[in-house]
Amino acid sequence: MQTAETSASRPYRWIEANSIAGALGAEIDGVDLSCDLTDEVMAEIRAASLRHQVIFFRDQKLTPEQHVAFARRWGEILYFPLSDGIEGYPEILEVKKTPADKKNVGNFWHTDQMFAVRPAMVSILYGRQVPPFGGDTMFSNQYLAYETLSPGMQRMVRGLRTVSSSSHLNRGGGEDGMDGGKSVFDSTGTAIKIRDPGSARMTGAHPLVRTHPETGRKSLFIGSHTHNFEDMTEEESRPLIDFLMRHSTRPEHTCRFRWRTGSLAVWDNRCTQHLALNDYPNETRVMHRITILGDEPFAS
Ligand code: SIN
Repeated sequence: MQTAETSASRPYRWIEANSIAGALGAEIDGVDLSCDLTDEVMAEIRAASLRHQVIFFRDQKLTPEQHVAFARRWGEILYFPLSDGIEGYPEILEVKKTPADKKNVGNFWHTDQMFAVRPAMVSILYGRQVPPFGGDTMFSNQYLAYETLSPGMQRMVRGLRTVSSSSHLNRGGGEDGMDGGKSVFDSTGTAIKIRDPGSARMTGAHPLVRTHPETGRKSLFIGSHTHNFEDMTEEESRPLIDFLMRHSTRPEHTCRFRWRTGSLAVWDNRCTQHLALNDYPNETRVMHRITILGDEPFAS
């Protein structure tokens, strides 16, 4: 249950937001996500998400129904084209690593579904079983990544479009990731059951500098799925892609979230990248992810 906050110095009436890093990220207190949230509370959560780019909630006890109900408050569900959801809940993708698995899902900087015509708006990840150490997720601020480029570089990148593909991972040929097509392993073969994407388009071109449809701010829209710039070869594109990936993910552009069972993160894929660390051998980590459909990226 939420109680009204009386202090005029706080930007929110119903929630409390505390930054976890200088670049981005805030923990939100005062909300029980299993409840049917009022429009006012939801509006504050969305405002905090726009302001902090990734927000975290602690100690939530959610059934799959409640997770789906909260996700639907953000928009239309984006069904993952390469795999089915968990039994009974096609909206929920299970992201799991067991002691028998060497690789984990999402261990590379990326933004969700950037190869789709309409990539993900937000992703909502819930920690069902979290290891006693390790398994943190890192996030990078893609507004800062753009804003900290020199004026000359900003002018140059504004003219470029990226080509990204579900089967491309720009990390020295590695091929292990949820969005990487053939690439998600566990002891038996796949941690996420890969299926044929059917007619879903798995390669997409988008502006490298996109305008956020809600904040109007410009951000660098790039990730490990980016293969080349449109109308340029991979060889021509690679040095600049590599520079922009390094620049985007400089430590001062990032935050790092330590999960606990019951933690939930909501990140805005339109202005962040993220990476799931793989540093918990012999432990199990089970997360449930729901993704919300975004707009077609545009530049203005
Ligand atoms: C992902 O969505 O890339 C997975 C993130 C995580 O498991 O922390």
